[in-house]
Amino acid sequence: MDKKLRVAVIGCGNISVMHLDSIAAFEDVELVAVCDIKEDRAKAASQKYGGKVYTDHMEMLEKEELDAVHVCLPHYLHVPVSIDAFKKGVSVLSEKPMSIKYEDAEEAVRIADECGVKYGIIFQCRYNAPSLLVKQRVLDGKLGKVKCGRTTLTWYRPDNYYDSSDWKGTWDKEGGGVIIDQAIHSIDLANWMIGSTPVEVQSTLHNRNHEIMVVEDSAEGLVKYENGAILSFYAMNNYLIDEPIEIRLLCENGKATFTYDEARVVYNDGTVETAKNNPEDMFKYSGGKDYWGFQHATQIRQFYNAVLGKEELEISGREALKITRIICDIYKNNDNKNLIK
Ligand SMILES: NC(=O)c1ccc[n+]([C@@H]2O[C@H](COP(=O)([O-])OP(=O)(O)OC[C@H]3O[C@@H](n4cnc5c(N)ncnc54)[C@H](O)[C@@H]3O)[C@@H](O)[C@H]2O)c1
Repeated sequence: MDKKLRVAVIGCGNISVMHLDSIAAFEDVELVAVCDIKEDRAKAASQKYGGKVYTDHMEMLEKEELDAVHVCLPHYLHVPVSIDAFKKGVSVLSEKPMSIKYEDAEEAVRIADECGVKYGIIFQCRYNAPSLLVKQRVLDGKLGKVKCGRTTLTWYRPDNYYDSSDWKGTWDKEGGGVIIDQAIHSIDLANWMIGSTPVEVQSTLHNRNHEIMVVEDSAEGLVKYENGAILSFYAMNNYLIDEPIEIRLLCENGKATFTYDEARVVYNDGTVETAKNNPEDMFKYSGGKDYWGFQHATQIRQFYNAVLGKEELEISGREALKITRIICDIYKNNDNKNLIK
C-alpha cells in the first residue's frame, strides 16, 4: 500500500465521533493527532481512537507532518483554524457551516487555492440515497428543472441544549440559531437541486420560546432564483421531537418529496419512483444521532480521494459558498426588527 494519509481531528466534542469512526474505518488513513482545548476530551478521543494529544492546534500543526485536518469546532473558529492549516500546506475538511460571515468564507477559499490544498465542507445529507435519486432525476431531465420548492424543519432543542454549551445560542460564536445550525442542511439540499443563482433572499426570524438565548429559534422566508425558481423555507426548534425534515419540489415533469430517509417522485404521466436509505449500506457510528444522517463516512472518503488526487473534490469550499451566501443573507435581510444582531 502507498504511504498512509496522515490526518488529525481538531475539536473532540459531539460530532467528532462521526469523523473519528470514519477515519478508523479507512486502511489508508492514519489518525496522527487529536486536539481540543479541553484536554480531557482530547485524551478520551486518543484513548479510543489513538493519536497524540494536543490542546493547541498551532502547536500540533507545527510539530506534526499532516496531510489533512478535520475541523469540528464551534462555528466562529471554522475559518481562522482552517486558514492556519492551509498556511502549513494542510488540507481541511470543515464541519458546516463554512463560516458565520460570507466575506470570511470567500477569503478562506482564496487562501486554500493560493496554498494549493484541498478545502472541503461537510454537507453529508447530499449523500443520502433519497437526495441522490432526486438530484439525478433533475440532472438527467426526467424530473427536469425545479420550478418551486419548500423545506420544513420542526425539531426540538430544549433550554439545556443551549445552556450546556459555551457557544451555542450566541451571535458571535454560533452566528445564529435554527437556520445556521439545523436548517442549513435542508436549505442546502433544496438549493443544490435548484442549481440556479439566488437573486433575492427574504426572511423573518423570531425567538419565540428560548429566553435562555438571544438567537432565533424560528424562521421563515423565501429565496428567488435567476432562472425563476422560488424556494420557501420554514424552520423551528420548538417541537417536542425531531420530526424528519421534508423537502418538496415542483418540477417541470413531476413532483419530488423527500426526507433524509426516503424519496417519492411522482411524474406527470403518473409513474412513481422511490428511494430509501438501505440500513445495510449505512455506516455504523458508535455515537451517531439519526437526525445527523449516516453519510459522513461517504463524504470523508470522497474528500480523501480528492486529497490523494484520485477524484475531483465534490463539496469544496467554492461549492459551499453558495449555501453560505444564502444563510448569511437570511440573517442580513431579516425583517423582524426585534431580533437584530
Ligand atoms: N454535519 C452535521 O450534521 C453536524 C451535526 C452536529 C454538529 N455539527 C457541527 O460540528 C461542529 C461542532 O459541533 P459539536 O456539537 O461537536 O460542538 P461541541 O461543542 O460538542 O464540540 C466542539 C469542541 O471544540 C472544542 N474547542 C473549542 N475551541 C477550540 C480550540 N480553539 N481548539 C481546539 N478545540 C476547541 C471544544 O472544547 C469542544 O470539545 C459545529 O460546526 C456543528 O455545527 C455538524
